[in-house]
Amino acid sequence: MAESMLGLKRTKRCGEYTTEDIGTLVTVMGWVQKSRNKGGIIFVDVRDRSGLIQLILEESDCGVESFEKGTRLRSEFVIAATGKVEPRSGAVNENLKTGQIEVRVKDLRILSESETPPFPVQEDLKTKDELRLRYRFLDLRRPDLQKNFILRHKVCMEARNFLSEEGFLELETPMLTKSTPEGARDYLVPSRVHPGNFYALPQSPQLFKQLLMCSGFDRYFQIVKCFRDEDLRADRQPEFTQLDMELSFVDENDVIDVNERLLQRLFQMIGVEVSLPIPRMTWREAMDRFGSDKPDLRFEMELTDVSDVVKGCGFGVFSQAIEKGGSVRGLNVKGQGDMPRKKIDSLVDFAKDYGAKGLAYLSLKEDGSIKSSFTKFLQEEEVKKLVEKMQGEPGDLLLFAADQDKVVFDVLGNLRVEIAKRCALIPENTYRFLWVTEFPLLEYNEDLGRYQAMHHPFTMPMEEDLSLIESDPGKVRAKAYDIVLNGTELGGGSVRIHQNDIQEKMFDLLGFTKEEATKQFEFLLRAFQYGVPPHAGLAFGLDRLVMFMAGEDNIREVITFPKVKDASCLMTDAPNLVDDTQLDELGIAIQPDVLEALKEEASDSEDNNS
Ligand code: AMO
Ligand code: AMP
Repeated sequence: MAESMLGLKRTKRCGEYTTEDIGTLVTVMGWVQKSRNKGGIIFVDVRDRSGLIQLILEESDCGVESFEKGTRLRSEFVIAATGKVEPRSGAVNENLKTGQIEVRVKDLRILSESETPPFPVQEDLKTKDELRLRYRFLDLRRPDLQKNFILRHKVCMEARNFLSEEGFLELETPMLTKSTPEGARDYLVPSRVHPGNFYALPQSPQLFKQLLMCSGFDRYFQIVKCFRDEDLRADRQPEFTQLDMELSFVDENDVIDVNERLLQRLFQMIGVEVSLPIPRMTWREAMDRFGSDKPDLRFEMELTDVSDVVKGCGFGVFSQAIEKGGSVRGLNVKGQGDMPRKKIDSLVDFAKDYGAKGLAYLSLKEDGSIKSSFTKFLQEEEVKKLVEKMQGEPGDLLLFAADQDKVVFDVLGNLRVEIAKRCALIPENTYRFLWVTEFPLLEYNEDLGRYQAMHHPFTMPMEEDLSLIESDPGKVRAKAYDIVLNGTELGGGSVRIHQNDIQEKMFDLLGFTKEEATKQFEFLLRAFQYGVPPHAGLAFGLDRLVMFMAGEDNIREVITFPKVKDASCLMTDAPNLVDDTQLDELGIAIQPDVLEALKEEASDSEDNNS
């Protein structure tokens, strides 16, 4: 039976007691971690978010009633114990903050009992993710997760303090709003008052923060929930948090400057010194050298373009790719010349997942011989030149992809990271930050047969490329920048367009008619007619930032109640069916045959993804 805590007041948290408290009468409250009944003596470890303290119960101190309660204690019971702090009667526990003391209990109350938990509440738990997430409230009691969320809180506080010192104002923007142009699918919310109409949950506060600049707030930030209906990954949730900001009368260097100082300040909290300035690399260079716009700089293994060496060679795969406007590029995997065929084949399969038609290999054996899937089609001299260009040495494995550039980069960029993981080339506890700049303004969408904004339609082109907008739009670079950490995009932003003529050209290029642009962005365009300051901004993925700082490799570990791969919540079972009355109020009818077709489609795409 649960008792009340009437008349008791918790003195402090369990982990906060020290030898200085010896001799004082205290009241400890928390969860039973473990209780050991040694006949006449019961030892109880009590836990809260600060740590553990040991209680000791003997009938001669606490009386029959409390002692009897002590015999009934089980893991996760919530208790209150009043007693005196004493030096440990038994061995001192060096691993515990409170390992030199214990509380000799005079009075014990059971505030709440617990069923046997489905898994022990302890650090480094090895149990199925599914079970952890179903019982997330228990999972969250574990010290490793508590540590993550305490850190998350501190990161938010530090960011707030820093940005406030820098003159930023924390302002909120609506959650029930209109579609924002971030490129993922929207989550829609039906309106009861306006039957048939829907709000969209924001994919980001992009348009509102630009409006706040028009309103003269000058420097804004927000720690804000964003919603994107897209496929989940280790660093992606449908509902996530941005540390979002926008600044007026600035250029990209100002945004970069304030944000790298912010990062430096945040990483100091975990004892990591970020040296400034953070290096910068253009998008072009990042693609050419690493095949990725978010290169992981913790290890080398750069791409080499060998197109000039194999142009017109006898290996059709190579020569034809070049003839069709593509390229042939390679990776030199140092010291892996003896990689067995089976392992190479599995790399080929990996490459195929990223759209490669194949992956050509050349193993340079220690004895000077060569084993390769394609050198038989090449002249001896060509092979020599190829190896030279790749800086190949005996014992190296050379891998090549031939295709259109986009495919080659995607394949080799991902393969590079995969090989580094498989061959353990990535050093631990290393943080390599990088700004990637000068992104292309547009990317060509083959399906739509037109250009699309790479970032969003309000991103400013680089002045020196303005003349290319009509003649060669694919070549126009944007004033956009991403901050990358260890191969993950931590944040991104851009300088925005504030001139009407450039904005109109942009809409033209993106295939918006004036009417369409007006319909979708009328409020922003109207605001721009009343005096708009030049402005720029950036948003960090806060979950990703905290994930890195906490040393985790999935953002779920820093989100209190995360969703799983199919975007459902295992604990609440959301999303769920709703009452017909709720649907009737909204004028929404479920169409069973349409639902069937959608379910089939969803399970097909899941099969294809797995
Ligand atoms: P962007 O779309 O690059 O930019 O988003 C900013 C950062 O948010 C994080 N992020 C995510 N984190 C977890 N789950 C997701 N599904 C997810 N999607 C994005 C990433 C990303 O770098 N409005 C612009 C910013 C600007 O231009 O100021 C924007 O939203 O870390
Ligand atoms: P094939 O002529 O298809 O037997 O291929 C010979 C070798 O070239 C095999 O190792 C293939 O994996 C490889 N290969 C095929 N297509 C490509 C490509 N687009 N890029 C690189 N290697 C390829």
